[in-house]
Amino acid sequence: MSDIDVLVSEVGPRDGLQNAKQFMPTEFKKRWITAAAAAGLREIEVCSFVPPKLIPQMVDAAEIVAHALTIPHLTVAVLAPNLKGAIRAMEAGAQKITLPVSVSHEHSLANVRKTPDQMMDDVRRICEARDEMPKDKRPKIESGLSTVFGCTIQGEVKESEVLRLAVASMEAGCDEVGLADTTGMANPAQIRRVYKLVQAEIGQVAGLHIHNTRGLGLANVLAALDIGVRTFDASLAGLGGCPFAPGASGNIVTEDLVYMLESMGFRTGVDLEKLLAVRQILSEGIPDEPLYGYVAAAGINACAR
Ligand code: COA
Ligand code: ZN
Repeated sequence: MSDIDVLVSEVGPRDGLQNAKQFMPTEFKKRWITAAAAAGLREIEVCSFVPPKLIPQMVDAAEIVAHALTIPHLTVAVLAPNLKGAIRAMEAGAQKITLPVSVSHEHSLANVRKTPDQMMDDVRRICEARDEMPKDKRPKIESGLSTVFGCTIQGEVKESEVLRLAVASMEAGCDEVGLADTTGMANPAQIRRVYKLVQAEIGQVAGLHIHNTRGLGLANVLAALDIGVRTFDASLAGLGGCPFAPGASGNIVTEDLVYMLESMGFRTGVDLEKLLAVRQILSEGIPDEPLYGYVAAAGINACAR
């Protein structure tokens, strides 16, 4: 990523739509992904491979991956909550698979119906399944540690547990570990402390997945930028939230994140005007869903350019 300084990973088609009340027609999902990539986003989490009975929004996951794979220079990322989902994702050709490993015992049970340690057994099996694939077809596997900074069901999440599961993920064969503030409870000091702790323990951390539930999203990004983090997840129009974490709401807004980064001089590769125009696809595809974002409301005139 030499021509960009920060990788903005769009997670709206997964994190955003999993929490949307309306079904977005498949054609709109494809248009969204195409337009987001055309605006310059290099990585998009396009769907999750979950039981359609549980999250009907993801019934077209394989078709969405097939479409995304036709877009040049795009990393096609997905989420899979278990071995079956990961195998479906690999068969569909996903290039990156994030596995939600909840550090909170209670959220883990609510989200994947397994304890964190039972989930780690799945992570191990998924990495073994990856290793059986031809080398050039193997997806990157990320352990997406979730509820790292607090949990609405359990309350406090122990940093020692974060470290233990980060180490276990790497030992299980994951390519990388990312940290997620699933419930939007993190503060900037905590972001710095936990990120550095994990980095010191496993040598590298993939990136941060931040929700803006308590309005600290961009402050948390800034804290992370200061300690060298260069990959952030975000969602167009701030859609998002885990349906199995009470009170969880949207991700940081991709448009606002790009505005902040670009105006600070970090190159993202994203054309903000084109990105803002993508919101129209959401307005048409899921008209009942509220769209968030300060830059969309204010306009980009003030952007330092
Ligand atoms: N994709 C499609 N079908 C799946 C599946 C997957 N990834 N995983 C399980 N199934 C099917 C099983 O084959 C089984 O089908 P059957 O009833 O026809 O036999 C059924 O779903 C139940 O399977 P089981 O293994 O008992 O799963 P479960 O009911 O214990 O659910 C998870 C476990 C992990 C699949 C579920 O809790 C889940 O999808 N969680 C993720 C939720 C999510 O996306 N959260 C937000 C993102 S962090
Ligand atoms: Zn999320």
